Amino acid sequence: MTLSPFKTPQQNNDVQGRTDMAMRPRRLRSSENMRRLVRENHLHTDDFIYPIFVDEALSEPVEVSSMPGVFRQSEQSLSVLLKQVEAAKVPAVMLFGVSNHKDHEGTDSFKKGGLMDRMVKRAKDTCPELVVMADACFCEYTDHGHCGPLDHIHNDVDNDRTIENIAKQAIIAAEAGADVIAPSGMMDGQIEAIRTALDQTGNQRTAIMAYAAKYASGFYGPFRDAAGCSLGQGAGPKNRKSYQMDAANSDEAIREVALDIDQGADMVMVKPGLPYLDILYRVKQTFGMPTFAYNVSGEYCMIKAAARNGWLDENIAMMEMLLAFKRAGADGIITYAALDAAKILREQND
Ligand code: PBG
Repeated sequence: MTLSPFKTPQQNNDVQGRTDMAMRPRRLRSSENMRRLVRENHLHTDDFIYPIFVDEALSEPVEVSSMPGVFRQSEQSLSVLLKQVEAAKVPAVMLFGVSNHKDHEGTDSFKKGGLMDRMVKRAKDTCPELVVMADACFCEYTDHGHCGPLDHIHNDVDNDRTIENIAKQAIIAAEAGADVIAPSGMMDGQIEAIRTALDQTGNQRTAIMAYAAKYASGFYGPFRDAAGCSLGQGAGPKNRKSYQMDAANSDEAIREVALDIDQGADMVMVKPGLPYLDILYRVKQTFGMPTFAYNVSGEYCMIKAAARNGWLDENIAMMEMLLAFKRAGADGIITYAALDAAKILREQND
C-alpha cells in the first residue's frame, strides 16, 4: 500500500506505521527563498502591453475619472508617455484613438492624415523599437458608437461593409508603421479581410492579434467613457450582443479562435480577462498559440475603487490578478496597470 495524499494523516500512519505525516506541503512554503524556488509562474515586464488613449481634441492629458491613473493623451503628450513606457521596459503598446471627427462609418480612421494614421506615425517616430499595436475598430470613430456602419433595415451592424472598411483601416495603420493590427470588432471574416488587404499591399510583415474571443461584457464601462463610444441614445441596437459573444458560452470561444487562426491570426486574445480565465485556459490548451488576456477597464477600476476605499491593498491585489493570467496560460496581458506593475517588479528585483 502506498501513501496517499487522499487519505488523512492518521490513515496513512496506520498503513505505514509512521508517527508523522509524510506529506507536509507547508515545508515548501517555509521561507521566501523556498517559495521562490518552487514557484511555478512568474510575472515579467515582458508580459505587458500598455493600452493608451489618444484624444485628438486635447492639448493636455486628462485623467479618466473612472480609471484613476489612466489619462487620455493629447497627440503631443503621447510621445512623452511612450518614452516612459520604453524606459519602464514594457515591450508593447496598444493605441486607441478618441475621435473628434465622427461619422456614420468612422471614415476618419481609414483616411491618410486621420487620427489612426497620425497617432501610429507619431508612436513609431518617437519610439521605433517599441511594438506598436493599433486597435482596429470603428466604435471610437462612429457617431452612433457601434463597431461598424449600421444596416438600418435589420437595425444591426453591417458585417460585410465593416470588414471592407476594416481592411482599409488596417492598411492605413500598417503603412503608418504599426507592427500589429488588433481588430476588436468581432465581425465575421475580419481577420481574413485584413490579412488579404495587408498582403496585397506589400504589408506581409504586419502581424495580426485577433480579439478572437471577445464577450459582450459589463466590464467595458470605463473604457467607453474614456474612448467616447458609449451606446444608448444614438442609432442602432442598444448593446453589442449581436456581434460580441454571449457570456454563457465556452465552446463557441473555441470555434471563434479556430476561425481566426485559420484566417491568419498570429496571436489570439481573450477578453475580458479575470471573469474568463476558464476560456483563456481552454484556448491556450487547445491551440498552443501566442495567447493574450485583456485585463479590461472594469477589472482595473474595481481594484482602484476598492483600494481607494481602504478595502483592498492595491498593489497586492493587482499583482495577484496579473499573475492569475500567467497561471491560466497567457503569454501576455494587455493591462492599464502595466507601468505600475513594471515598477513593482523592478523594486522587487532591486
Ligand atoms: C472597442 C473596444 C472596447 C474595448 C477595447 N476595444 C469596448 C467595447 O467593445 O465596447 C474595451 C477595453 C476595456 O474595457 O478596457 N472595440
